[in-house]
Amino acid sequence: MKSLGKLLIVCVVLFALLQVVRPGIPAGPATAELQAPAEVKQVFEKNCYSCHSNERRLAWFDEVVPAYWLVRRDILTARRHLNFSTLGSKPSAAQKATLYEAVNMIQLGAMPLPDFVKLHPEAKVTPEELATLKNYLAPWSSAPAPVSESAPTGAIARDHADEAAAPVSLAAVAPEFNGLAFDPTFESWKPISATDRGDNNTFRFILGNDIAVKAAQSGNISPWPDGARFAKIAWQQQADAVGLVHPGKFVQVELMVKDTQLYKDTEGWGWGRWRGMDLKPYGSGAGFVNECTGCHQPLRGNDYVYTLPITPASTTRDEAVNNLAAALPAAMPYQPLGWNVITMFVDQRNRSIAILYGNETAMQSGRVRGDAPTGKSAAPVYPVGAVLALVTWSERDDPHWFGARIPGAPQSVEFVKVSAGSMSQYQRFAGSGLAEQHLDASTETQRMSFVLGLAPVQLP
Ligand code: HEC
Ligand code: HEC
Repeated sequence: MKSLGKLLIVCVVLFALLQVVRPGIPAGPATAELQAPAEVKQVFEKNCYSCHSNERRLAWFDEVVPAYWLVRRDILTARRHLNFSTLGSKPSAAQKATLYEAVNMIQLGAMPLPDFVKLHPEAKVTPEELATLKNYLAPWSSAPAPVSESAPTGAIARDHADEAAAPVSLAAVAPEFNGLAFDPTFESWKPISATDRGDNNTFRFILGNDIAVKAAQSGNISPWPDGARFAKIAWQQQADAVGLVHPGKFVQVELMVKDTQLYKDTEGWGWGRWRGMDLKPYGSGAGFVNECTGCHQPLRGNDYVYTLPITPASTTRDEAVNNLAAALPAAMPYQPLGWNVITMFVDQRNRSIAILYGNETAMQSGRVRGDAPTGKSAAPVYPVGAVLALVTWSERDDPHWFGARIPGAPQSVEFVKVSAGSMSQYQRFAGSGLAEQHLDASTETQRMSFVLGLAPVQLP
């Protein structure tokens, strides 16, 4: 009994002594605080500033060692990633991107750190607070840039005069700073999905190599198999004269390469991003990877993958696939979802999203892939035997990313089969159950020339 008492005293004394071991947490005034309406700032102040600002806002129990050590570590890490006291010094587009990331981290349950919320329940973001942030950000409220000259409906004549970068040979593109090699074959990969990003006015195609596409088709995606590769390609959005929004200038391509062993330090994936028509590796050192893994972290239950593949496969986790968009009738003459993609567009008037697919013959016409970086790009001349399929879906919100929309229920599928002379054929499936529909001859001709006139996306 006596020795137990002694032990207790030793513990209390040790505990008291440890309180002195207290490395500082630098604090100070904001140098360039986030500029936003009061009600928006208030949400961040209440829930995020204890870690993501220069202010010192600790509860009394955070001040007690050893909790203090953990809290201090979190604060110092958190400030490196995002500091609302200095965010205002960044360009406004970068500030906005940060706020979108913040909202999405909240929505995905990653922020505030779940362990922190357990001890500080008042820091949990309420649905009303989240709505305040979303209202403020209001994606799709700024219209995409119009085309610089009057273009024929749908067919965008792109002006690349401002494109300074010389065309690159894909085989000669430099590896990323973490050593990930560029994969010059990405342009021939097949589509997994596409997104319309209202947070930064871009379109993205998510393509997969054969291993990734097979995995998506069979639903074998939890986890994705070694060897699977994704390419995410982004373009700026460009509005045409009739209100359709098309992919304009090429922005970047990103790769994710699955290899559980080789990339075990970066969540099993190799990460890389190459920007501009000259495909310059992103970042200035291997540390850029922290940006990728940081933002993909909330999807760890999904093998770090955001995209819901468009596939009919049922999986054990139906929320990880987009079955709805893949629901095309088996009775159609072709199943285009496995073909290559040529371009996409969005009709903002009725919120639909369309992808133009081409069969193998269509893809053989030289102009479909790649686009001379100077001069105008028009639609390719497709060879006889080419079949194009324009699949149109209603858009739905991406459940994984506030600010993104993805294909929802299919609305129509239109086929154009290219034959010699003016003998090309048009077939349309639409309405409930996507039954075949016949249009009058002149409307069919109009639709056919619209489809054939869509310019392919710009690629390096
Ligand atoms: C208890 C401290 C703490 C609180 C409170 C907190 N965060 Fe964080 N936050 C962190 C840490 C630590 C990181 C770095 C995560 C990592 O190491 O991957 C981080 C990272 C982030 C990132 C960047 C992710 C990245 O790696 O690019 C965002 C965005 C973010 N937090 C938003 C918020 C928002 C919004 C709130 C309030 C609603 C919030 N955080 C509250 C600790 C916190
Ligand atoms: C601010 C958050 C954020 C950051 C940072 C980020 N990503 Fe992503 N990433 C996304 C979202 C959201 C998607 C879903 C597709 C879309 O709408 O763009 C995605 C999708 C992808 C995909 C397609 C596969 C998938 O997971 O859906 C690849 C490949 C990819 N990202 C690579 C990268 C690389 C490489 C980096 C770092 C250089 C990176 N990402 C950084 C948010 C992010």
